[in-house]
Amino acid sequence: MVIEEIRKDFPIFNNKRISYLDSGATTQKPIQVIEAVDEFYKNYNANPHRGAYSLSIEATQKYEDTRTKIAQFINAKHREEVIFSKNATESLNLIAYSYGMENLKKDDEIVISIMEHHSNLVPWQKVSKVTGSKLNYMYLNDEFEISDDEIESKITDKTKIVGITHVSNVLGTINNVKKIIKYAHKKGAIVIVDASQSIPHMRIDVQDLDADFLVFSGHKMLAPLGIGVLYGKKELLKNMTPFIMGGDMIEYVYEQETTFAPLPNKFEAGTQNVEGVIGLGAAIDYIEKIGYDTIQEIENEVISYARQELSKLDYLTLYLTPNKENHSGVISFNINGVHPHDVASILDSEGVCVRSGNHCAQPLMRYFGIDSTCRASFYFYNTKEDVDRLVSALNKAYEMFKKYIVK
Ligand code: ALA
Repeated sequence: MVIEEIRKDFPIFNNKRISYLDSGATTQKPIQVIEAVDEFYKNYNANPHRGAYSLSIEATQKYEDTRTKIAQFINAKHREEVIFSKNATESLNLIAYSYGMENLKKDDEIVISIMEHHSNLVPWQKVSKVTGSKLNYMYLNDEFEISDDEIESKITDKTKIVGITHVSNVLGTINNVKKIIKYAHKKGAIVIVDASQSIPHMRIDVQDLDADFLVFSGHKMLAPLGIGVLYGKKELLKNMTPFIMGGDMIEYVYEQETTFAPLPNKFEAGTQNVEGVIGLGAAIDYIEKIGYDTIQEIENEVISYARQELSKLDYLTLYLTPNKENHSGVISFNINGVHPHDVASILDSEGVCVRSGNHCAQPLMRYFGIDSTCRASFYFYNTKEDVDRLVSALNKAYEMFKKYIVK
């Protein structure tokens, strides 16, 4: 499929002349996803699992069919290993509260990496404080990667939980999660993979990875905002207590006691985001239609070009692994001496959308001795022209600010 055809599926690119380079924050949505949500409200809107009438049964069917679709998409062994949540953050909090709080003891260790998003970091601080366990970090080498030595020195016999992002939302580094999982299992720890920045770009096979838990957000992979997924191995999920209590997650409720519903309902309290689930199903269909091979082919070309063109700008600092094969579609940079928010607003005036700030990764920023960066993040609807517009807008920003830069 040629890129022009793909871009026609995204109404926003017909409505606005922008170079959208913030897909790491949220992706644009193809018409197929927008129409699937529209179709739900027009033709089968009802509350799943709540009604005996045919409209509710149809909504239930579509909702549960999407669970099966996701289970197949990530190659889960059982469909009830797929739990719907609000986003990756909620999925990670569920694991922290329902698994971490209940299984960790004083002096156990949790290991995460310094490149974690706050969502895979702050919940573990809380677990560590409540349980008396220790929170340790894997740091980076000069190539913005986690070395084997670092993995092997931090994950020890005391480690009970390892939390690792598959792809860094700041650096784009692809972590070798399969290797980390294998090593952690050898030491008796379980591993939680944050796949939010990887699943939009690469096929995830939870059985091949042997991940114990894996989380992602729908909105970073073409689906609507407000829908997320928690995958967990059945034997782990079965033994965990619910995180949020309320309707539909129960079996029997008495005045003083409650028994809980089996998986997956045990973890889906209250009315769910059905339009989000339907939209996520349509997003998966769209990704499968384009194919990960095509997605990667397009992205590799555009990202290689971006790496090449941005590295020519000597006023720029890039936070980027030199190893192209370990790098996904995120490039963080700074114009030396200029605040990233100022750079981002000049880029915006040129129609180039990038994120600026700490990217919900303050410990990583502190580790680099900076406050913030600009970040361009790419998806398969981006083109080399987007890169050219970024470069020319950066040149303009540099020209504007260079007289104020203190050397
Ligand atoms: N986690 C999202 C990002 O990295 C919002 O931009």
